[in-house]
Amino acid sequence: MTTLIEARCTVKLVAMQAGLEGVVVAETRLSEVDGERGRLVVCGHDVEALAQRCDFEAVCALLWQGTLPDAAAHEALRAALGAARQRAWARLPALGDALGASDAMEALRAGLAHWRASELEVGSLKIELTAAVAVLAAAWARQQRGEAPLAPDPTLGHAADFLRMATGQASDAPRAAALDAYLVTAADHGMNASTFTARVVASTQSDAVSAIVAAIGALKGPLHGGAPGPVLAMLDQIGQPEAAAAWIAAELAAGRRIMGMGHRVYRVRDPRAAVLERAVERLQASGLRSSRLALARAVEAVAVASLGEQHPERRLAANVEFYTAVILDAVGLPQALFAATFAVARVAGWLAHVDEQLATGRLIRPASRYIGPLPGDRVAA
Ligand code: COA
Repeated sequence: MTTLIEARCTVKLVAMQAGLEGVVVAETRLSEVDGERGRLVVCGHDVEALAQRCDFEAVCALLWQGTLPDAAAHEALRAALGAARQRAWARLPALGDALGASDAMEALRAGLAHWRASELEVGSLKIELTAAVAVLAAAWARQQRGEAPLAPDPTLGHAADFLRMATGQASDAPRAAALDAYLVTAADHGMNASTFTARVVASTQSDAVSAIVAAIGALKGPLHGGAPGPVLAMLDQIGQPEAAAAWIAAELAAGRRIMGMGHRVYRVRDPRAAVLERAVERLQASGLRSSRLALARAVEAVAVASLGEQHPERRLAANVEFYTAVILDAVGLPQALFAATFAVARVAGWLAHVDEQLATGRLIRPASRYIGPLPGDRVAA
């Protein structure tokens, strides 16, 4: 007779094989992803509303303290992040060859590993690490171009200063606002792979620097934060809307995945793709044209139709990375810095999750299903 537990396990296993199930590993007050309806709620706010009325500092406060800051608290956090960027910049000469890596994420991982949690005050740790990720990513971009890193300007907002440090161009309000919209949109997203990684490390009562370094390693992969670079490369290869159908068909025939399409949780278009698409539209309305928006929309339409034919059982739609590529390109960031820019945003979420996990005092220890031989089994030679 099948017991209740066995029945539950069977349901779970079937669901996992179908790729439908997210095994619950934590309770969180930080963000909720509704994959069926295409909704992302961050600390009680829809991501669309946050991207319209908040900057990155406000979302940091929301994630770290649970409420949006009043004007004075917002100003204090903005100033604290600016001062922390200056401290991070002062450490660059002591990082050895960390920023010499040809991959931005490798540089970020190696650079950040120089920070020591034991030397950071608990109260300012999140600010110091959030500032450090932006400074390291921008410095890497400059160094790659053979240029000296630019010192932070603590009077600017985090997005504007990161953009200025990374591109070397004076900050302008429309581009800073577009990047702010991106950083807000990407700051947290449920139990994604890098956030899970950060929480696993925190759950062992290791330290926040170790958790963030590990999360950077998880974010680096092309199935997670590494997708926007290949999306831009795809748009460049396609070149014009009329070429999209043949290009996508050839990729699918070769068994390759279309980058920026599909999601483990969303069964509809990722709501963040729409937020970023609108942010690029606003940028265009301000006079800064994105050469790739029209092409991206055409490629998305073709990709959705082609994937729908190939996978009628599973709706594959645009994910956040599709329009991340368009918006980061439009604000002037180089393709090689896209994944690291994701980290500039997501570090805010990782740090909030580290705190939340530490507060539980519980070790995350998932189970695996053993499918190997048992002692005494006959193993085929
Ligand atoms: N292009 C082509 N086919 C895709 C696809 C894509 N972008 N995404 C999924 N599929 C197909 C798979 O090949 C698989 O087909 P099969 O059953 O014939 O083997 C089927 O859809 C299910 O894929 P699976 O890998 O089980 O789904 P998943 O939930 O694990 O995948 C992603 C989620 C994000 C890893 C996947 O959609 C993907 O690789 N996307 C491209 C990378 C990307 O944009 N990453 C950023 C995510 S925010």
